[in-house]
Amino acid sequence: MTDDIQEILLDEETISQRVSALGAEIDVHYEGEEILLITLLDGAIVFTADLIRNLRRPLRLDCIRVSSYGDSTSPESSPRILGNLRAEVEGRHVLLVDDILDTGNTLSRVQNEILSRNPASVHSCVLLDKPARRETPFKADWIGFSIPDHFVVGYGLDYAGRYRQLPHVALLKPEVYS
Ligand code: PRP
Repeated sequence: MTDDIQEILLDEETISQRVSALGAEIDVHYEGEEILLITLLDGAIVFTADLIRNLRRPLRLDCIRVSSYGDSTSPESSPRILGNLRAEVEGRHVLLVDDILDTGNTLSRVQNEILSRNPASVHSCVLLDKPARRETPFKADWIGFSIPDHFVVGYGLDYAGRYRQLPHVALLKPEVYS
């Protein structure tokens, strides 16, 4: 697997320090509040696991799965929310957590769904942001790293379902995915 890696973009220590700082910033924002943290499966599980251990505010955790739309850009394949949240959203302070903000279609769709349920607030935190790829306007409230439009894997991010367990964020060799 490591033979497929071209370059490490963000190493473990760099990620760890940034996640810790994000936790501190989020704690300040939610002083006196309980967070309903909703993580977007599957990619965000690694980031979420580390982020919540850096949060000191009371929180409840829920998960949401959004249909993958693969390589297609056709409207009928826009993201759909699969299944139901367990938690009641009305009146809660919702924090959406995702591994990467790319076109913005996924988080925009999820945020609209949450807003329709009358939360007290909705904010979002992403580990990675690729602003150059945006199709739907969306600004995350907390961003770990803003990165160029490279294909990255690791720390939860996959290529064809693989590489999620890498402890760093890395660039794949082009011959792996071309
Ligand atoms: C990825 C990622 C985000 C979404 C971002 O999910 O985890 O949820 O794409 O892309 P967007 O901003 O262009 O909508 P993916 O559908 O690959 O599923 P995964 O989380 O299971 O990897």
